[in-house]
Amino acid sequence: METELEAELSAHRGRFIVVEGIEGAGKSTHITHIVNYIRAEGREVVATREPGGTALGESIRELVLAPSKEPMSPEAEVLLMFAARAQHIEDVIEPALGRGAWVVCDRFTDATYAYQGGGRDMPLSRIAALEDWVQGALRPDLTLLLDVDPEVGLKRVGERGGKDRFDQENVEFFAKVREVYLRRATLDRHRYAIINADQEIGKVRQGIASALDPLLATKADG
Ligand SMILES: Nc1ncnc2c1ncn2[C@@H]1O[C@H](COP(=O)(O)OP(=O)(O)OP(=O)(O)O)[C@@H](O)[C@H]1O
Ligand SMILES: [Mg+2]
Repeated sequence: METELEAELSAHRGRFIVVEGIEGAGKSTHITHIVNYIRAEGREVVATREPGGTALGESIRELVLAPSKEPMSPEAEVLLMFAARAQHIEDVIEPALGRGAWVVCDRFTDATYAYQGGGRDMPLSRIAALEDWVQGALRPDLTLLLDVDPEVGLKRVGERGGKDRFDQENVEFFAKVREVYLRRATLDRHRYAIINADQEIGKVRQGIASALDPLLATKADG
């Protein structure tokens, strides 16, 4: 049972919001709005991303995203993602949540399940073991899944130019990624909001706000 002290600490603790979705879903597009929306409620907000968020994490990001002639093994890929995540949790995410700030993160462990599990066929149980080891009890309070058909997402990214190692994957790869995202979100409707990202940006924004409102309301006194 939760002690009074634990209950008080958890009431003070910030909330951990993650934005997920395939390439071109609109994560980067919406992060600024999400941050402003939460700040307007008087909260401190830390915006960050994965892989990245620390000097080590950004170096790992360059390693995993850089196109290379030498294929990266799925095991190496998943371990690099969790190495970046371990540093990110210790240096950025936990300190922020602990002082009551809200953390808004562009991708987190659902992306590992979706890309390395779905896209690269890594057994999900291995990812779950790493998740437990690296994160302990840390899980997002809310994951906003921006859901879009891969054809639509890839077309948007294609217009952006400058493809990274994942952008170069084909529609079948992203269909598998999307399927794992949707399966995870559907199994846990309390912790996920599935938002149709194939609508005009204003509509997507409304969907995001509706998903954030209940969480903001629970912290009105915090
Ligand atoms: N709802 C939308 N309708 C039309 N265009 C959109 C929409 N959302 C985003 N875009 C456009 O699609 C492109 C990709 O969006 P964005 O960079 O936000 O995607 P992302 O999810 O961050 O992708 P990545 O995973 O590659 O970082 C941008 O040019 C953006 O302006
Ligand atoms: Mg982005």
